[in-house]
Amino acid sequence: PVTGCLSIVVLGASGDLAKKKTFPALYNLFRQGFLPPDEVHIFGYARTKISDDELRNRIRGYLINEKSASSENSENLRKFLQLVKYVSGSYDSEEGFRLLDKEISKQELSKNTVEGSSRRLFYLALPPSVYPSVCRMIRHFCTNKSNLGGWTRIVVEKPFGKDLESAEQLSAQIGELFEEPQIYRIDHYLGKELVQNMLVLRFANRFFLPLWNRDNIDNIQIVFREDFGTEGRGGYFDEYGIIRDIIQNHLLQVLCLVAMEKPVSLKPEHIRDEKVKVLQSVLPINDDDVVLGQYEGYRDDPTVPDNSNTPTFATVILRINNERWEGVPFILKAGKALDSRKADIRVQFKDVPGDIFKCKKQGRNEFVIRLQPSEAMYMKLTVKKPGLEMLTIQSELDLSYRQRYQGVTIPEAYERLILDTVRGDQQHFVRRDELRAAWEIFTPLLHRIDGGEMKPAPYKPGSRGPAAADELLEKAGYVQTHGYIWIPPTL
Ligand code: BG6
Repeated sequence: PVTGCLSIVVLGASGDLAKKKTFPALYNLFRQGFLPPDEVHIFGYARTKISDDELRNRIRGYLINEKSASSENSENLRKFLQLVKYVSGSYDSEEGFRLLDKEISKQELSKNTVEGSSRRLFYLALPPSVYPSVCRMIRHFCTNKSNLGGWTRIVVEKPFGKDLESAEQLSAQIGELFEEPQIYRIDHYLGKELVQNMLVLRFANRFFLPLWNRDNIDNIQIVFREDFGTEGRGGYFDEYGIIRDIIQNHLLQVLCLVAMEKPVSLKPEHIRDEKVKVLQSVLPINDDDVVLGQYEGYRDDPTVPDNSNTPTFATVILRINNERWEGVPFILKAGKALDSRKADIRVQFKDVPGDIFKCKKQGRNEFVIRLQPSEAMYMKLTVKKPGLEMLTIQSELDLSYRQRYQGVTIPEAYERLILDTVRGDQQHFVRRDELRAAWEIFTPLLHRIDGGEMKPAPYKPGSRGPAAADELLEKAGYVQTHGYIWIPPTL
């Protein structure tokens, strides 16, 4: 790997994403020794004219949390903030980017361990509308010029366009300026521990290999629930809606990992090749396979139009037309302002043929991967009810991370993904053709919603969402478990 000065530039340094996610992730990496102070320099870039210290003061509060609030860490915090410098400039003028380049070069000269090499990482914590101009500026004025090695990489995050056409346009604009290996499209769900575990689980366990197909699996659900509304983000959200915000990216990425074939190797291109194949095998979405909802009170937000047709809840069934999955519904469900906050994958198996236990069963075998909170995997199974009678009862095999891996801190998604960008590993990033295939699936449906042809049903905040969603689930074949609920173990 290339060494030498590493400059990390956070563009949009005073925005929400930078303060809440990017800088805290950088700080956590720094605390753990992944960003050595003799190699690394961090720059914030934004339009506001403020000093280095003002930027440090603005981000300081976001860096302290329960994980990092010890006295040993206050020294770390001080050292980290010393690495952060600020450059102000606009997003479309040469001047600011020339200045940025000058500041980066100055640092490279002052701390290069390997003479002349330079690594430059540009993190665009910005609205996508400015991606093309910012990328152009970086390309022309700020790329690594050293011929002694190094690289220039850019990190971007959704929304990548609003539909297939706008996404392709954005991809083309960025693609003219940077090569695909330089572009890191973040989907932070790919940085979650249990999402990353999916490949290991599926391909390193004999248990799952023979069962993971249409012969044994009845249906698969990938569910995201939040127990709060669009608080403060109504303006952004109303333009995009729950399908673009969660389903087309986060849940679809999870689907790929659940459904894909075994890659040739763990090389990023091999993995991404398999993901693309799954996406390309998804059939066009049926209107009957969609339930939309909007929570009551959503339009009270002053930034949301009174006649908004934007869904804050959606259940969409995808059907994969290949040998492994034909006939197995993949039920993607996401909602804001629901009764709980959690994300999980539920793999429900078919009933046992020729049942000899005539008593009423509580439910089917189900393998659940709880992505968050309380990371866990559990398998719901039927066992003999302990006692004198031959009765059956639903129970579980439970791997709860908090209990099994006591003392292990699960890294934040952004922390892990930023480290990957520094290391040059694109395995957990979305490739351009993947993005295109994802938009191809959802664009026709999104256009129908945008055009008012499909309307969201109202639902009460704090509920399970529209009743029609549960009906659709049942129609798709999902069987609810009765009289049993998995409870995460407490320590
Ligand atoms: C973001 C969405 O991508 O993911 C938000 O824009 C959502 O609306 C968030 O709240 C959820 O992320 P997490 O990691 O809290 O599940």
